[in-house]
Amino acid sequence: MTTCPDRVNVLLIGAGGREHALARALARSPRLGTLWVDPDANPGIASLGRRADVPIDPKQAYRTRQFCDKHDIGLVVIGPEDPLAAGMADALATRADGSPRPVLGPSARAARLEADKGYAKKLMRDASIPTAEGRVFDDYESARAFVESRSEPHVIKAAGLAKGKGVIVPADTDEALRALDRVMKAREFGDAGKRVVIEEKLAGKEASVLALVDGRNILILPPCQDHKRLRDHDGGPNTGGMGAFCPAGTIDDATMARIEREVFVPIVDALRRDEADFRGVLYAGIMLTPAGPKVLEFNTRFGDPECQPLMARLESDAIALFHACATGSLHHAEVRWSADAAVTVVLAAEGYPEKPRKGDEITGISDAENVHGVVVDQAGTAMINGKLVTNGGRVLGVTAVGSDLGEARSRAYEAASRIQYRGKTYRRDIGA
Ligand code: AMP
Ligand code: GLY
Repeated sequence: MTTCPDRVNVLLIGAGGREHALARALARSPRLGTLWVDPDANPGIASLGRRADVPIDPKQAYRTRQFCDKHDIGLVVIGPEDPLAAGMADALATRADGSPRPVLGPSARAARLEADKGYAKKLMRDASIPTAEGRVFDDYESARAFVESRSEPHVIKAAGLAKGKGVIVPADTDEALRALDRVMKAREFGDAGKRVVIEEKLAGKEASVLALVDGRNILILPPCQDHKRLRDHDGGPNTGGMGAFCPAGTIDDATMARIEREVFVPIVDALRRDEADFRGVLYAGIMLTPAGPKVLEFNTRFGDPECQPLMARLESDAIALFHACATGSLHHAEVRWSADAAVTVVLAAEGYPEKPRKGDEITGISDAENVHGVVVDQAGTAMINGKLVTNGGRVLGVTAVGSDLGEARSRAYEAASRIQYRGKTYRRDIGA
């Protein structure tokens, strides 16, 4: 067992709402030395730490490694999937003296669980993990023939990383064929669409189950639910996520235990057999079907925005917890969650997800944070001429805690109404 030092300098990689919530949790830890944040961090994140004066680019990972050595970084927390898939965790996992540096985030080999849906399907099949029946295609003609041969429309997924947008759930076979053209021919999702997974359409309620995995031990986090569609009542296009809440009541304790047993235990074993070092957050998107829970996808990181309500409820020391995860010591870790419920409402820009407006001044954040139990995490924001402006699709995440979901929700919406910018867009039914 590796014990967590009393003082730890942390480097937090990532620049959005999830990382602002992580930065808050890290900043609450009594162990925090200096919090170094991404040079691209938004102003909210940067207000909690110091921007690293080095590019965080997997192609120049040696520079980030030198930075970590120079500033005695004792924990690296990697938020987004792209740097993980590009091997950032591998590059930073060793100090100049050859000793290990704790990194929360899997190796590139293990991050393929998210970055290559074909690999994920294979691992699941080999380990008999319940998932949609599906096939992987590298070749357009064979994929097309398969779609045409099915009596039911199948779900089309770009196999690579597509910012959460590479999944098309078609209503009929014609739409499925058009989806296949968009992914494989028009390459709407770039190289992510070189390969596709085509799978049966599942029905049921969805839930996100996240766990910390230290290579061997699994610590399941409280269940969350996000809202992927842009508009109320699950209308409009898929987005990165328009809100989330925790705990999610759709999933009872017996089902959680079943998901741990049938999904998490076998996938962690399968990764180990494949010599894929996984120390970080494993996120399973689950469909609760009449035949039991089935995996829709794996992510190898915290969800955004699911991370926001989770961090709002985390009472124990985030540095000690993440350090334990990164050093294979989770079985000794202490984790406490508040009894409160938490709700996050994402405030997006007009035009999101296709073409978000940028550059509009944002006001009212401190007024919003005056609502009891509320924090406002910044996502797509920038500081220009001393003014905070919109700078991305998802602009802010308003998170409220309350004694129950109803109280958390009404606080979050009261706070959301106090924030102004042109084109403010959000759902009214988060957590409802
Ligand atoms: P994913 O990124 O794989 O989680 O897919 C995004 C969304 O597409 C999911 O949250 C589901 O709503 C939907 N989806 C993915 N796979 C399936 C499936 N096999 N059947 C029905 N819906 C799906
Ligand atoms: N909110 C879904 C995700 O982060 O993938």
